[in-house]
Amino acid sequence: MNVKPHAKDVYKKFSHVEGNQHIASEYALYTVLRLVDTFKIESVLEVGLGIGSIADTILSYAKANDKSIRYVGTEANEFCLTQLPINLHDNFTDIRVENNLRDVKPNNDFDLIVVDGTDAQIGKVHEYCSDHAIIYIEGHRGSQVNVIREALPNAVECFIASDYKNPDYGPFPATNWAGGGTAIFVNPTAAQRTFVLKEKASTKLKYIKRKLS
Ligand SMILES: C[S@@+](CC[C@H](N)C(=O)[O-])C[C@H]1O[C@@H](n2cnc3c(N)ncnc32)[C@H](O)[C@@H]1O
Repeated sequence: MNVKPHAKDVYKKFSHVEGNQHIASEYALYTVLRLVDTFKIESVLEVGLGIGSIADTILSYAKANDKSIRYVGTEANEFCLTQLPINLHDNFTDIRVENNLRDVKPNNDFDLIVVDGTDAQIGKVHEYCSDHAIIYIEGHRGSQVNVIREALPNAVECFIASDYKNPDYGPFPATNWAGGGTAIFVNPTAAQRTFVLKEKASTKLKYIKRKLS
């Protein structure tokens, strides 16, 4: 499956639902899906399910590709909790929803942790990571990145930036860049190190392109 059109379809769908002002950007959906696809992710923990755009992207991708992905997410906001089953339809039955990280209970077995919200235990996110886990922190959340990084002495990381502006069919201003986020590889394999090197070079080029445009 080509991950780009899939991310676009889900973004379009969520652009028209109630509460769309906090959904992940189309670029964020594409980036998490690229990580899932490239590194054969089998389990995901999402901090801040919101109204479910990231979860729906990953779970519908898994279904379309006959893959099984275990999905646990945290959310405490009442509005979001009522919207999740509405927005995710059948995919909602594949998510375990907990109030916060403490309720998930650390188990060192998630391959991908997506941070798109807040949690008092964010500094303990490493306790939820499998051996070669990836932590993707959406947007420019410098303080969260710093807290998470502190507990991961072997980690390597890269910022993954967009090189285009928000599409006009979404809820975000079409004058703004479509976002980006930080990927931290907690105990990188050779393939993950190569990915980081390539992304760093790519992000540099994208920033040059941004400046020139
Ligand atoms: C950036 S949002 C998370 C978005 C989420 N990953 C998604 O795909 O929809 C971060 C937090 O904002 C809150 N939130 C999201 N949408 C909201 C809404 N429409 N109204 C109130 N709070 C919202 C939730 O508590 C959520 O955990």
